[in-house]
Amino acid sequence: MILVTGGAGFIGGNFVLDWLAQSDEPVINVDKLTYAGNLDTLASLKDDPRHLFVHAGIGDREVIGKLLAEHDVRAVVNFAAESHVDRSITGPGEFIQTNVVGTFNLLDVVRHYWGDLPADKKAAFRFLHVSTDEVYGTLSATDAPFAETNRYEPNSPYSASKAASDHLVRAWHHTYGLPVLTTNCSNNYGPYHFPEKLIPLVILNALAGKPLPIYGDGQQIRDWLYVKDHCSAIRRVLADGKVGETYNVGGWNEKANLDVVNTICGILDDIKPRADGAAYASQITYVQDRPGHDRRYAIDARKLERELGWKPAETFETGIRKTVQWYLDNEQWVGNVTSGSYREWINQQYGA
Ligand code: NAD
Ligand code: DAU
Repeated sequence: MILVTGGAGFIGGNFVLDWLAQSDEPVINVDKLTYAGNLDTLASLKDDPRHLFVHAGIGDREVIGKLLAEHDVRAVVNFAAESHVDRSITGPGEFIQTNVVGTFNLLDVVRHYWGDLPADKKAAFRFLHVSTDEVYGTLSATDAPFAETNRYEPNSPYSASKAASDHLVRAWHHTYGLPVLTTNCSNNYGPYHFPEKLIPLVILNALAGKPLPIYGDGQQIRDWLYVKDHCSAIRRVLADGKVGETYNVGGWNEKANLDVVNTICGILDDIKPRADGAAYASQITYVQDRPGHDRRYAIDARKLERELGWKPAETFETGIRKTVQWYLDNEQWVGNVTSGSYREWINQQYGA
């Protein structure tokens, strides 16, 4: 079986659902259930014996050590992290604890487990660390997209903490021989995305008649990847990636934020027009920019295509339509995540 961390979050949750839809190999899912962890995402697995959910942090050496010792784990896929850049600016401490200290503890426990495996299982074992393109810093309009050879230049507390975790993973391979793989992916979107992030926030605010907040001039560029394409890339790398290597994952979908928001508004105008007939884009509101806001991210995903034959299945146009429709069809999931602490965050971040 495999052990996944952070599997109640956005990407980890999609990964667990896709994994069990495509194979019968069981999954142990270790998640601390922070504000971003949501068991509703995994509701369809409630009575599925192939899914073992464990409520624990990646820094809990005892629990993780016990799980590894008691189950025949052949791979660990580490999704668990604090993931929101804006929260890392207002409260960086948790990012250091989970992304840096937590990853260290997880790596160290896994190293001891792996070290005691018999030779055949030791050779087949993998630790896959899920990371971000933000570790490479920011691009100008004319720079080439980030390749695996770009130097690390993280600019936010979030990206610095992810960069630190990538370095730890690298060191555990170089020093101890732990068979690691690292993926650095661009911006994901799709089902089960927590609505603190741009795309789900805009869909839900639009439907609720609320302002659609655009930071700064809205011309910052992100390279969007449908979450299920990220999951398929991780499965490819886990199956055939070369130990010690990093793979950039991206959708070849560079879009300015304002264009993304206008696209969402256009889709909603089509499929769920406002009662008063006005365009959803009339709700666009420019707000104060994010401090240290990276201008452009773009991923060069050619290594993954060349070496492992991976390509995204969705274009932005197909993926964003599916995503908007998913939020319209899943009112209950949305209702549950937008209560309580979510409202506190929105008030703190966007004020009146
Ligand atoms: P998310 O915030 O939606 O989910 C994170 C999950 O990790 C939650 O379920 C949370 O409860 C859990 N978690 C947090 N701290 C934990 C801890 N100490 N121990 C165990 N579980 C803990 O994040 P996401 O968007 O799904 O991102 C998953 C991973 O992918 C992260 O490592 C992130 O850096 C990386 N990533 C995200 C994107 C993106 O666009 N969302 C892109 C590239 C890489
Ligand atoms: O690039 C990969 C990264 O993408 C991941 O590592 C992060 O975990 C993930 O959160 C995401 O980071 P971003 O900061 O790019 O995503 P976010 O959705 O927060 O913002 C996308 C862009 O939209 C960014 O330029 C900031 C802008 N934005 C965001 C919000 C929440 C707005 O203009 N208004 C908003 O209200």
